Amino acid sequence: MDQAKDIKTSVPGGSPRHVAIIMDGNGRWAQMRGKPRLIGHQAGARRVRAIVEACPTLGVEYLTIFAFSTENWKRTQTEVAGLMGLFRRYISKEMQNFMREGVRVRFIGDRLRLDEKLRELMDDVEKMTDQNTRVNLTIALNYGGRDEVARATKRLAQDVSAGRIDPETVDETTLAGFLDTCVLPDPDLVIRTSGEARISNFLLWQSAYSEYEFIDTLWPDFTPEIFADVVGRYGVRERRYGAVS
Ligand code: IPE
Ligand code: IPE
Ligand code: MG
Repeated sequence: MDQAKDIKTSVPGGSPRHVAIIMDGNGRWAQMRGKPRLIGHQAGARRVRAIVEACPTLGVEYLTIFAFSTENWKRTQTEVAGLMGLFRRYISKEMQNFMREGVRVRFIGDRLRLDEKLRELMDDVEKMTDQNTRVNLTIALNYGGRDEVARATKRLAQDVSAGRIDPETVDETTLAGFLDTCVLPDPDLVIRTSGEARISNFLLWQSAYSEYEFIDTLWPDFTPEIFADVVGRYGVRERRYGAVS
């Protein structure tokens, strides 16, 4: 982790407070080895711990990871079931580690389509870790940016029709308050692994002014050193938010 420390102190613009990662490339990683896709997902899941643990050293307070999208249901039943089983095992296995490392865990996405056992585990880990403050880990599970905005709009409309909100007062902050991410700051940096340069419905609203890094490494090969390198590059970027600097 010394390398991470060196990079942080050499970053002029400071660290990104919130980093979001589209963890892509598990399938290709497995395919290259002649293995089933699920082996790639397992290898990918094993990578997460070291990245979460690198966050405090790098000055990253919030890490959000894209684990399963609202579109990923289109995959084969075998892959979807394999992934759901993997999420259950991952949460159970990491529970103690989250406590040891001071990780506060949250989930974003629509939970209703997930099976009950998984939902219970998600609730448990959220409750169990809610006093932790060292790193804020958010796992996007059955998450889609458009779906999130649609669900938020539905609840906002319900509040308007019940007379709890005056439509004249609705602004960006009102809508943001209905999103799954309402307690999180917007991501400063969004990283996508595996060489694809698209956002695939991830944090559409929240990433309006995020910096993007698309890197070729497949997710199961992503290391804390690569993470430190990408975070280090963030520090030299100039963010203008539409103004002239
Ligand atoms: C990302 O890896 C993990 C999930 C989407 C669940 P992929 O499974 O998309 O891997 P590739 O893109 O097929 O290599
Ligand atoms: C995005 O990856 C979703 C996750 C990483 C969970 P995908 O592999 O599903 O995205 P596309 O299909 O290449 O756009
Ligand atoms: Mg993919």
